[in-house]
Amino acid sequence: MKYFEGFEELCGFLPMPGAFLTVKDNAGNVNVMTIGWLSLGIIWSIPVLNVLVRPSRYTYQMMENAKYFSVNAGPGFEKELAFCGSHSGRDLDKIAKAGFKLVPGKTRGVSVIENCGIFYECEIIHKTKIIGETLPPDIKKKYYPSGDFHAVYSGKILCSYKHT
Ligand SMILES: Cc1cc2nc3c(=O)[nH]c(=O)nc-3n(C[C@H](O)[C@H](O)[C@H](O)COP(=O)(O)O)c2cc1C
Repeated sequence: MKYFEGFEELCGFLPMPGAFLTVKDNAGNVNVMTIGWLSLGIIWSIPVLNVLVRPSRYTYQMMENAKYFSVNAGPGFEKELAFCGSHSGRDLDKIAKAGFKLVPGKTRGVSVIENCGIFYECEIIHKTKIIGETLPPDIKKKYYPSGDFHAVYSGKILCSYKHT
């Protein structure tokens, strides 16, 4: 599919119940976390998907040492999304506990969750951070009471498709 074709469907899962962000770091560790926010569009004249990860997440450590990530979404994953959004890969193997099978994506080095309907495979090409001082005070107060400002990872969309 064209990168924007599944976007409306993907947005139907956001911010709740969410989508899965899957990352494999340079050491080969894999983790899945639930995300409720993302953006997709054209930057630097290419299709880009931005995901936001707080530094307190185990996923953050992994994104810092990774080249790729995937975003996976589909109907019927409410239980798994709640689980992967409330437990840390630091403490347990969420992939095994959730009963997921990670399969190779279409891009070398990228894994996706089998049976999710919509997939985006991305290469990390930029990272920036949410800057508290430039946020409207109400948003800063509501979303960042402890100063855990998201890192924003920009992924060049390598491919997007429905089903594996
Ligand atoms: C619906 C939902 C959406 C979430 N969205 C995000 C998000 O966009 N960014 C983020 O950093 N955490 C988000 N979280 C919280 C993480 O998924 C949660 O802290 C998770 O346990 C982190 O796992 P990790 O430590 O294995 O990385 C969300 C949680 C839920 C339930």
